[in-house]
Amino acid sequence: MRTSSATVIEVRSDYLGQPGALLAIPEKLKPAPGQYVLACDDDCLLPHPLFSTAAAPQGFLVAPPIPAAWKAGTTLNLRGPLGRGFQLRENIRHLMLAALGNTVERILPLGISALKQEAAVTLFADPPLPSLPPEIEAYPTSLIPESLHWADFLIIDIPIERLPLWRQNFGISSDEPLPCAGQALVVSPMPCGGMAECGVCAIPFRRTWKTCCKDGPVFNLEDL
Ligand code: FES
Repeated sequence: MRTSSATVIEVRSDYLGQPGALLAIPEKLKPAPGQYVLACDDDCLLPHPLFSTAAAPQGFLVAPPIPAAWKAGTTLNLRGPLGRGFQLRENIRHLMLAALGNTVERILPLGISALKQEAAVTLFADPPLPSLPPEIEAYPTSLIPESLHWADFLIIDIPIERLPLWRQNFGISSDEPLPCAGQALVVSPMPCGGMAECGVCAIPFRRTWKTCCKDGPVFNLEDL
C-alpha cells in the first residue's frame, strides 16, 4: 500500500450522465480489477473509493460516480492499491456478468478480457447500457435465474445493501449449492480503508464478520 498525489486530467460523463474521471497516477498505485484506491481532495472529510474501468497510458479511467467538486486539474491524495481484487480462474468458457447496482463499469473490463480468451460472455443489468462489444449479449437481471445453468463462472457487482438478497435474486435457495464458482465485488462506502476499523463496510461472513475494505471488496460467492 502506497500514498501519492494524482491529478484529474479530464472528467467524462458516462452513458448515464454520471461523471467519471481520467486520472494521472503513478504506475505503482494502479488498482487491479476489483481493487480500489482511496482518494481525497483538499476539502474532503471522507475519502472516496475509486475503481478502475479502463487503463490509460498516463493512469486509469475511474468508474463513475466521482464527487461533483472534482474537475480537470484537481489534485488528489491517494492511498492504495487496496483490497482483494478479482482472481479469475483460467479456462473460463461461459462467463456471466451481473451488475445489481447502478453501473456495469466496474465489471465490464473483466468481460472484455474474457472475450480475448475466447470465452462467451453475457451481461445482466437493469440500468441503460454503454455500447458493448457485439459478442457480449445483454439481458435484464430478471432473466438471471433461468440463465444460470449456462455459466461456468459468475462475476457480480452488488451494493452492500442488496447482499442479503443476492441468492434470492439469482433463484438459489440458501441451502442449495451454487451452480458454478464465482466472485462478487461488494460495493460499500469505505471511509477508513481498514485503518480505523470503523466497521462501516462490515458484512456477515459464515459465522463471523469481514470488512469489504480489507478482506474484500471481492469475495468468493460460496462464502457469501
Ligand atoms: S471502511 Fe472502515 S472498516 Fe472498512
